[in-house]
Amino acid sequence: MSGANDSYDPKQVSALSPESLAEASDAALAALAAAADLEALHDAEVAHIGDRSPLALARREMGALPPSARSDAGKRLNLARTAVADAHAAREAELRAERDARVLVEETVDVTLPWDRARLGARHPLTTLQERIADVFVAMGYAVAEGPELEAEWFNFDALNIGVDHPARSMMDTFFIQAADGSPDSGLVMRTHTSPVQARTMLTSTPPIYVICPGRTYRTDELDATHTPVFHQVEGLVIDEGITMGHLKGTLDHFAQSMFGTEVVTRLRPSYFPFTEPSAEVDLRCFVCHGDSVGHPERPCRTCSSEGWIEWGGCGMVNPRVLIACGIDPDRYQGFAFGMGIERTMMFRNSAEDMRDMVEGDVRFTLAFGMEA
Ligand code: DAH
Repeated sequence: MSGANDSYDPKQVSALSPESLAEASDAALAALAAAADLEALHDAEVAHIGDRSPLALARREMGALPPSARSDAGKRLNLARTAVADAHAAREAELRAERDARVLVEETVDVTLPWDRARLGARHPLTTLQERIADVFVAMGYAVAEGPELEAEWFNFDALNIGVDHPARSMMDTFFIQAADGSPDSGLVMRTHTSPVQARTMLTSTPPIYVICPGRTYRTDELDATHTPVFHQVEGLVIDEGITMGHLKGTLDHFAQSMFGTEVVTRLRPSYFPFTEPSAEVDLRCFVCHGDSVGHPERPCRTCSSEGWIEWGGCGMVNPRVLIACGIDPDRYQGFAFGMGIERTMMFRNSAEDMRDMVEGDVRFTLAFGMEA
């Protein structure tokens, strides 16, 4: 007979009675068997095996039993816990196998599907042409500059000697941007040319400056064979000591030959731009008639309107007023600048006659340029 044990309170340890343990383990086994998926199994595990489950609570009561009763109760408890743990492991294995089988079916990939029916994409020919142009100038030591397409009016016009009342300001068919408060004058425009990058570059670097800036430009033109409201230009800017128009002509000749072959003939035709003085238009000998149509009405040339030359872009010596506006000493430094349309360049280079082909995104157009990735 065991002796009296003051700390033994049968009510307190009723959780370890055979009935209570059987009840707890039956409930656990039923819940585990009923779990229909791994999530439900986890819930059942928390409720019936976890720290706050009846079996775990019962275990904590062991210490309250008189030593003589511990062995029996311990065996009962262990049997119940092992049975529940085994049932859990078995159900978990079952549910995992079910889930794996389902995932295998759901995520089946039909490797017999043909993979070569969807054509590989390629970068747009205008993009690759811009890169090719950049390569020509990088090879001569130029840097490639970038500027924002949403540009301050000051950079797009004022800094380039195009004052508020200058006719060039209204001739440029500008997209003006409305301010957030609805007022029409936000001081911002979609840049009408890449020339503002000249001003940005001069303001942020010190000569010698040799940069080009290829990029997107905007004007309020309707899309037709020779116009598009979004187009591309490449701007060139050189600021150094002793720069002359001879350097400009030599640079443009090299650029033209890199684009159109060594046979190309260029000409500078006097013109006017507010930001250059003197200014010139860069013409190319007509690729089609080579000038043979001039003075021969019996064989007209559509490409150059029988003028023998086609216009490629603008250029000139940077106007001292622009140098001053951009903080450069015009007595010490001179510079030249030029700006060409990339779409025009592609038209001449690849005999692409309609600009709409360049914006419509029809892969048959792109394919003709090869699949340069
Ligand atoms: N920005 C001029 C235009 O869009 C092109 C141009 C002309 C750029 C002369 C220049 C330049 O840099 O010197 O029509």
